[in-house]
Amino acid sequence: MTSVNRLMRAIRVFEFGNPEVLKLCTDVPVPSPGEDQVLVRVRACGINPVETYIRAGAYARKPTLPYTPGTDIAGVVEDVGKKVTSFKNGDRVFATSTITGGYAEYALCSSSTVYPLPDQLNFKQGAALSVPYLTAYRALCHKAHAKPGEVVLVHGASGGVGIAACQIARAYGLKVFGTRDNHRETDYIDKIEEATGGQGINVILEMLSNVNLSNDLRLLSSSGRVIIVGSRGPIEINPRDTMLKESSIIGVSLFSESKEERNESFAALFGGIEAGWLKPLIGPEYTLDKAPQAHEDIIQTSGATGKMVFVI
Ligand SMILES: NC(=O)c1ccc[n+]([C@@H]2O[C@H](COP(=O)([O-])OP(=O)(O)OC[C@H]3O[C@@H](n4cnc5c(N)ncnc54)[C@H](OP(=O)(O)O)[C@@H]3O)[C@@H](O)[C@H]2O)c1
Repeated sequence: MTSVNRLMRAIRVFEFGNPEVLKLCTDVPVPSPGEDQVLVRVRACGINPVETYIRAGAYARKPTLPYTPGTDIAGVVEDVGKKVTSFKNGDRVFATSTITGGYAEYALCSSSTVYPLPDQLNFKQGAALSVPYLTAYRALCHKAHAKPGEVVLVHGASGGVGIAACQIARAYGLKVFGTRDNHRETDYIDKIEEATGGQGINVILEMLSNVNLSNDLRLLSSSGRVIIVGSRGPIEINPRDTMLKESSIIGVSLFSESKEERNESFAALFGGIEAGWLKPLIGPEYTLDKAPQAHEDIIQTSGATGKMVFVI
């Protein structure tokens, strides 16, 4: 599967640990595509929080060491396997996962995870599509079953998933509230309650459930739903807070999405790109040598606006 002639730069992780285990190597063989695979010259790769949990060895699924992190790539097709008919060299594409890792100059992908990159989007925006928009769509549409006219609170609206959720929710006719650094203000819950005129929030997309879940239950309307998108620890709640309003707490896992659901999500998202409401907002950009800094920042930095990406 590897070519002996060509070498590339790629991040390699040889042991699980802190961000410094992300090593930039310059002698990684460029892989060759198998029959049903596509080799992509990566131009941008999205940075997702889950990649920090995996790197730390704290995630349920651990890759075999050494490995290259990264799934959300966009770039240009460099080579295709014999059975691939839907892509050719030079095509602009993005992918929802890779076989060899996205923090690299080249990434090998199964052709089933590669999609044409619409002309409206540049490579950085293409690298901001998969995990953020698919998660936001799944949370809002597949899990919350949000309806036009309902009120949604995107709790963590400045990050990758949050921005995607705001765009989708507006396009689908929901009234949208969002928090960013202001979720640290002591009276922000009162402000939201006031803004809904006492009616409460129908759907809360929660990015940091271990901090907010108890307050979320207070903010919900009758039959309201909290969708657990992100959580970084335990929290105590009073189950009684769910009773009077018959509230639901629903977890979301992009990993559990079926093929049919994935096709539906992309049909909606490609429609959004065509219509012009889906526009990934890019935040901090990094080069591969800054990978440890990028992993530090995505967990520690507050107030980031937009999707963090590697430009490669
Ligand atoms: N369940 C799934 O399948 C799935 C899929 C993708 C992501 N996730 C998870 O979802 C979360 C968000 O992912 P992302 O890619 O959007 O990350 P991101 O780009 O790093 O954004 C993090 C967001 O969380 C916000 N935040 C920080 N402290 C908060 C608080 N106390 N209350 C509410 N929001 C707070 C941040 O706001 P400020 O920066 O303004 O403080 C920012 O908007 C992560 O935990 C990630 O692991 C889950």
